[in-house]
Amino acid sequence: MPTELQLGSGDPAAATVDAVVIGVSALDGAPVLAPGAAEIDTAFDGDLAGLLAVAGATGKAEEVVRIPTRGAITAPLLLAVGLGSGEADAAAVRNASGAAARALSGTGHALSTLGRIDLAAAAEGTLLGAYAFTAYRSGDGASAPVGRVDVLPADTDTGAAEALRVATAVATAVTVARDLVNTPPNDLYPESFAQRAADLASAAGVEVEVLDDVALAEGGYGGVTGVGQGSSRKPRLVRLSWSGGSAPRKRVALVGKGITFDTGGISIKPAANMDQMTSDMGGAAAVVATTVLAAQLELPVAVTATVPMAENMPSDTAYRPGDVLRMYGGKTVEVLNTDAEGRLILADAIVRAAQDEPDYLVETSTLTGAQMVALGTRTAGVMGTEELRDRIAGHAQATGEGGWAMPLPAHLRADLDSRVADIANVTAARWGGMLAAGVFLAEFVPEGLPWAHIDIAGPSFHTGGPYGYTAKGGTGVPVRTLWALLTDIAENG
Ligand code: BES
Ligand code: MN
Ligand code: ZN
Repeated sequence: MPTELQLGSGDPAAATVDAVVIGVSALDGAPVLAPGAAEIDTAFDGDLAGLLAVAGATGKAEEVVRIPTRGAITAPLLLAVGLGSGEADAAAVRNASGAAARALSGTGHALSTLGRIDLAAAAEGTLLGAYAFTAYRSGDGASAPVGRVDVLPADTDTGAAEALRVATAVATAVTVARDLVNTPPNDLYPESFAQRAADLASAAGVEVEVLDDVALAEGGYGGVTGVGQGSSRKPRLVRLSWSGGSAPRKRVALVGKGITFDTGGISIKPAANMDQMTSDMGGAAAVVATTVLAAQLELPVAVTATVPMAENMPSDTAYRPGDVLRMYGGKTVEVLNTDAEGRLILADAIVRAAQDEPDYLVETSTLTGAQMVALGTRTAGVMGTEELRDRIAGHAQATGEGGWAMPLPAHLRADLDSRVADIANVTAARWGGMLAAGVFLAEFVPEGLPWAHIDIAGPSFHTGGPYGYTAKGGTGVPVRTLWALLTDIAENG
C-alpha cells in the first residue's frame, strides 16, 4: 500500500497520531527549532531545543532523533529531523521529509509540521521517501512504509488543498517512473512496457499509438529495428499525446530512451554490474510518467511522447559492428559499436517527433557512462540549443534532481565521420563521450527547433544506500525537472 497523504489541521500537540515530525536546524552545531514547532515547544515547557541537544541532536541535514513524549503531547513519539545549517528552503524540507518518511517505516499514522515551512516540498519528500518497491518480495515486509501522513500547512496558506493535490500527483508520477525502472527485464520488455504505457495513458485520457516490429520495419525505422532485431522480444515505438486542452499554449515533444535491457549486443558489456542495465529505459519511463501527469493535471500545453523500446541482445539475428542502418527520415549510420544503441533508437524517435512541428523537443536518456565520468552519479548532463538547455538546467537544480549545462563542441562532429555512411555511431577517441553522443543526436534535429538532450545515466538509477527521499534503484529522475519545464512553458511560453 502506498502512503496516504492528507492535509492536516489543528494543534499538532493534541493530534491523535503515532508520531509528530518537527524540523531542527543547525546553528553553530547546536539544534534550533525550525518554524512550525511552536505548540510542541510549549508542550515541552519551551525548552524543546535544550531537550533535543541532550538527546544528541545537532540539526545536521537528515539527522533523525526520536523523543518519547511520555504525555507531553498526545502522540507517543516525537521525530526531530535535521534541516541542516543553511536556510530551511524547499530542498532542505524535501530532503528532511524524505529522511523522516524512511525513519517512520512501520508507523501507522504520522503528522508532519514541515508543511508549515513548504507544503509542496514536505508532501513530495514524504511520498518519495516512503516509496518502496515490493512487487517482487514474498511475505509481508517487516518494513511497510508509513501508512498515512497528515501534512500541516501554514496558517496563511490559502491554496494548501490545491498545492497538496498537485504535489501528490507529481510525486505519484515519480513513483510511476520508479516502478517501471525497478521492474526486472524479464517482465518489462518492449511489448509489456508498451502495454503498461498504453494502460497508464488510456486511464488518464491520453491518446495512444503503438507501432510493433512489423510496422517499424515497414515505416523505415531502421534504428529501432536494427537495435531490436537481436532479441526475441520485438521492438516497439509508443506515441502518447495529451492535447493540452482547448487552448494549448505550446506544443512540446518528449522523447525517452527505452532500452529494456542493454547487454551491449555483439559489442558485449563486461559481466560486472550488467544487471544495472535493467535501468536503461529510465528516460522512457520519465517521459511516459510526465505525459500522463500533464493530462491528469490538465496542463495547457500539448505534450507528445515518442518512446522507442528495444532490447539490445547479442544473437545470430543481432545487428553487427559494420552494419549500416537507414534511419527514419533517410540518414544512414555506420554501426561501429553495438553498445552505442541508445542514440540509434533515439535518432528514429527524434525525427518522428520533429515531424509534428513542436515548439520544443526534449529528449532524455541513460545514454553514456561518460556522463558519470564528467558529472558524477547525481548530476545530469544537459545539452542542446542554448536557451532551452539553460532553462532545463535551471529547473533541474531548482527541483533538487540535479543537472548542469554542457556544450556540444562542433569539432566533435568530424570524429563521427564514417567510411561508408552519413555518420558513424561512435568516435574513435573516447574523450568527451557524453558530448559526442549529444553531437550525434543533434544531427537528427531539424535546423531551428529548440531542443535539449538530458543524459541521466547516473541520476536515474541509484546504486548506493538511501539518502533524503531517494532509495536504491529507480529514482524517477527527471520527471520533476520535465514537469517544472512544462509548467514554466504553460506560464511563460
Ligand atoms: N546504456 C549505456 C550507458 C550507461 C552506462 C547507462 C552505465 C547507465 C550506466 C549505453 O547504451 C552505452 O552502453 N554507452 C556506451 C557508449 C560507448 C560505446 C560509446 C558507454 O557509455 O560505454
Ligand atoms: Mn549500450
Ligand atoms: Zn544503453
